[in-house]
Amino acid sequence: MMTRLLGTADAMSPLPKVGSEIIEAIERSRLVGRGGAGFPVATKWRAVAQRSRGDAVIVVNGAEGEPQSKKDRVLMSERPHLVLDGAFIAARVLRARAVILYIGERHDAARNAMLRALSARPESERRLVTTSAAPARYVAGAEAAAVHFLNEGIATPTNVPPYPFERGVGAAPTLVQNVETLAHIASLARTGQAPQTTLVTLAGAVKRPGVLEVEAHATIGDSVLRAGGAIEAPRAILVGGYFGSWVEPEHAWNLPLDADSLRRHGLGLGCGVIGVLPASRCPVCDTAGIMRYLAGESSAQCGPCFFGLRALADACTRVAERGTNPEDIKRLQRWAGEVRGRGACRHPDGAVMFLSSSLHVFAQEFAAHRAHNMSRSA
Ligand SMILES: Cc1cc2nc3c(=O)[nH]c(=O)nc-3n(C[C@H](O)[C@H](O)[C@H](O)COP(=O)(O)O)c2cc1C
Ligand code: SF4
Repeated sequence: MMTRLLGTADAMSPLPKVGSEIIEAIERSRLVGRGGAGFPVATKWRAVAQRSRGDAVIVVNGAEGEPQSKKDRVLMSERPHLVLDGAFIAARVLRARAVILYIGERHDAARNAMLRALSARPESERRLVTTSAAPARYVAGAEAAAVHFLNEGIATPTNVPPYPFERGVGAAPTLVQNVETLAHIASLARTGQAPQTTLVTLAGAVKRPGVLEVEAHATIGDSVLRAGGAIEAPRAILVGGYFGSWVEPEHAWNLPLDADSLRRHGLGLGCGVIGVLPASRCPVCDTAGIMRYLAGESSAQCGPCFFGLRALADACTRVAERGTNPEDIKRLQRWAGEVRGRGACRHPDGAVMFLSSSLHVFAQEFAAHRAHNMSRSA
């Protein structure tokens, strides 16, 4: 029977007796992180395990800063014990002295559910835990920002290395792991089964937007249909949220959501957002809106990120508001290449990945855009 994260009663039961062999099971399962970067989980656990002298720290990342994503909040609200199980299994296997629940400051229902569940846990687990409210900024969920915030109260990414697994919270080896990833580990530890599902947030022009648990090999089309289908003919589908890529609907429809299949198409599931853009919306205006948001979320520490994203957002906005100017299109293409890889964190890379996919998928719209009243768009 397939194990599921959602739609299953959440109850506390004794933690399964797992040791370091779980790392091999995680490796065999090919589980990758569900917070956005899609990094192999077993590799990260080994890196912390090698360095821990009983002093490691586990950061449970429930910041969920991506505006369209809801899956982490829903998971923490519906299955808090499963998330805590994952955290305490990590604490045991990695010999941690502390578990920190780093939950978005606006995610009240999720935080309350996690705290209620925690209060029912044995004292031996409770005493490991502290909580921290992640600021409501896009970059606050990045692992280096989380560690910086927990050490110094500033939720901006720092220049890495040293990486959190080397020197993180209180200079100790630190595992920062997304809440969905931890829930999958708990489920794997209980059932021995590799994760067969993934959580996605369906956003945009679907009949029933929200969080769904889909089979890992389900296609994007299956997920859209499970959300009631598109409200009107889609123009494109955003796979992976604001750091993701637009895909033409006919290409997206049959794409399986598993990490390997998406990678083969140069895509990633990121934080699991699938956003449907209807043909009636202006993709140039939406791209400009998202780029302005991402530029505003730069932590202003790296010039190419702060100035580069702002210049890209301004150029997009000029095209959206005043109509196509071939110089702006050339600038957008050139500057996107210049910004990539030039920040201390992946924020500028994610933003230009999104922008490059817009310029590609909406090439016609960018090439022949007429002045548009931006107040009518997002
Ligand atoms: C700008 C930025 C924002 C991020 N926001 C989040 C977030 O809100 N939640 C999250 O779990 N991971 C977020 N990440 C990814 C984290 O850096 C990190 O990879 C993740 O928490 C690790 O857990 P995972 O391997 O289980 O995904 C973000 C990364 C970047 C670059
Ligand atoms: S790349 Fe951008 S968001 Fe990341 S640390 Fe530098 S300025 Fe901040």
